[in-house]
Amino acid sequence: MDTRSELQATVDAMVQPGKGLLAADESGPTIAKRFKTIGLESTEENRRAYRNLLLTTPGLGEFVSGVILYEETLGQKGDDGTPFPQLAARNGIVPGIKVDLGKVPLALAPGDEITEGLDGLARRFVDYKRQGARFAKWRAVYNITERLPSRLAIEANADSLARYAAICQEAGIVPIVEPEVLMDGDHTIERSAEVTEAVLHEVFDALHRHRAVLEHILLKPSMVLAGSDHAQQSSVADIAVATVRVLRRTVPSAVRGIVFLSGGQTPEEATANLDAMNRLGALPWNLSFSYGRALQEPPLQAWRGQPGNVAAAQQALLKRARLNGAAALGKYEAGQEKG
Ligand code: 13P
Repeated sequence: MDTRSELQATVDAMVQPGKGLLAADESGPTIAKRFKTIGLESTEENRRAYRNLLLTTPGLGEFVSGVILYEETLGQKGDDGTPFPQLAARNGIVPGIKVDLGKVPLALAPGDEITEGLDGLARRFVDYKRQGARFAKWRAVYNITERLPSRLAIEANADSLARYAAICQEAGIVPIVEPEVLMDGDHTIERSAEVTEAVLHEVFDALHRHRAVLEHILLKPSMVLAGSDHAQQSSVADIAVATVRVLRRTVPSAVRGIVFLSGGQTPEEATANLDAMNRLGALPWNLSFSYGRALQEPPLQAWRGQPGNVAAAQQALLKRARLNGAAALGKYEAGQEKG
C-alpha cells in the first residue's frame, strides 16, 4: 500500500461514529503516580498486568477504535503471549504510540515549556511500525497566566508539532496533534478561549507550512473552560459553546476527527461536556474522546492491583467507554451513570 492509502486506511479505522480512543500511554513516572493512588508499586510486571486488563476488556472495541501505548507497552505481551499491538488489533482497536519525550522549560521564556523528541524520530518509526504502531501522539503543553503562554512558546510548540506531524506522515503513521492548554490556574473561561484560539491558529498555520495533509491528522485538544482554581466553575453548556466556537474558528473542515483529552476533569464531567458539544448541531468534524484519566480512573480504583478484581475493573472501563461512545453521538443521559 502506498503511504497515502495507508494513512487514509488508518484514519478511516480510527474515526468512527460512536467510538473514541483510549489514552493508555502514561510514561514511567506518570503510571507510577497513578499506581500510588491505589498503593501499588510500579514494576514492569504490574504495568504489564494493568495494560493487559485494559486491552482484554471484552467488548471494548465496540466503543474504542484506537489505543495510545507507551514505548514499553508496545513491546510487552498479554497473558496469552500475544504482543499488545496485535492483541489490540485483534479486537478491532488500532494501536498507536506516544513518541514525544516529554516537556522541558523553554529557554529564555520563564514559565513556558517545550516538548522534545524530534531528533531521530524518523528512525524510531522503523521499529514502531514493525511492532504494529499505525499512529502516533505528541503532546505540547501551554500554561496559562495573565502573560503566559508567550508568543514564543505558541510559535515554538506549533513548529515542533508540525514537524512531528510531517515526519509521521512521511513514515505512513497518522499523527495525533495534541496541543494541551492546561486547566491549572485561576483564569476565566474567556482567557482559556483566547489562549486556545491563538494556540490552534498557530498550530494549523505551522501544519500548512510543514506540508502536513490535514485529512490525515487527528487533533487532540483540551476543552475551553475556566481554570480549576477559578471561583466560578464553567457550566457544561458554557464549555460546549465556548469550545465549539474556538474550534470552528481555527480547525479546517478537512480534519476528520477531533478527539479531546480529559485533562483533569472528572469522568462524568468529561462525558457530559463531550455530549453537550455533539448536541449543538451538525459539525464539520467527528467530535470524540481520547481520554486517559477520565476512562481509567474508575477501572484503576476497582482493580487496586488485585487479580480477583480484574472483571470488576473491566466492567468499570467498559461502562465509561460505552457512555463516552454515547456522548460522541450526543446521546448520553446522566441517568445512564446508574446501573
Ligand atoms: P488525560 O485524558 O488524562 O488528560 O490524558 C490524555 C492524554 O493523552 C494526555 O496526553
